[in-house]
Amino acid sequence: MVWRGWDNAEIYHRFVSEHRIYRRLNQRMVELADLVGARHVLDLACGTGATALACLRVLDMDADLTGVDASEEMVEVARANILDPRARFHVAPASGVHDVLDDRFDRALCNAAFWQFPAAGPVFESLARVLEPGARFVFNVPAERVEGERHAIHPFQIALARSLEARTGRRFDAGSLTRFTLDDDVRFTYTGVQRELMELMTIPAMIGPLADGLSNQDWDQAVLEARDRTDPDEEVQVPWMFFLFTFRGQAP
Ligand SMILES: C[S@@+](CC[C@H](N)C(=O)[O-])C[C@H]1O[C@@H](n2cnc3c(N)ncnc32)[C@H](O)[C@@H]1O
Repeated sequence: MVWRGWDNAEIYHRFVSEHRIYRRLNQRMVELADLVGARHVLDLACGTGATALACLRVLDMDADLTGVDASEEMVEVARANILDPRARFHVAPASGVHDVLDDRFDRALCNAAFWQFPAAGPVFESLARVLEPGARFVFNVPAERVEGERHAIHPFQIALARSLEARTGRRFDAGSLTRFTLDDDVRFTYTGVQRELMELMTIPAMIGPLADGLSNQDWDQAVLEARDRTDPDEEVQVPWMFFLFTFRGQAP
């Protein structure tokens, strides 16, 4: 699990606090989940609590929110930062939420995580055991994960790929992999600056798949080179897609 370790939890938490991108995605997710009147909300892959915070802002005082994440460290940071009595957090993989939760939920949200799950099927099966019939579930993925969607390859990503290629001799393909083909979707384009993508690349979980086989020093050099070739204030458009589901019934 690439999100284990205090480095990930603390650096991710700082990134989310300092940069707008995940806050904006979470805000949009909360709008689409329609939390008006919601009683029991599940935050799947809750991380350090950014989605939970966005939900708690609009939830009724007698509603509750349950965050679940596979990384103990991410959950610990969420527990330390969110003292709202309506919130509680558990450690479990997304495919095993039914093992740790007895409650039934009328909303579920999953921000910036779904494509990282090893398989979607077991996650839907687990969710079906904890969602009430009629419950709404919303998740999102970067548009580049969706077949037929346009790719956003930004100057910093290209510069980093070139620096890594020069060091490793490996080809870094910025092309997309098909992950989801679903009907009910909403497009949302985040507008920010290159600096955010640069900072994202200081989170170990983001670095892991790219830096495989590189020394720390080589990785740092590659990032510095890529930063030098990119304007941190240049505007970026980052397209995401949100998927909305209604659970019709529970698993047998
Ligand atoms: C980019 S963070 C998003 C966290 C949070 N939703 C937010 O908006 O800030 C991705 C999260 O997915 C979690 N994750 C990845 N794979 C998982 C899995 N199989 N089961 C549960 N959580 C998982 C990671 O531990 C990490 O906390």
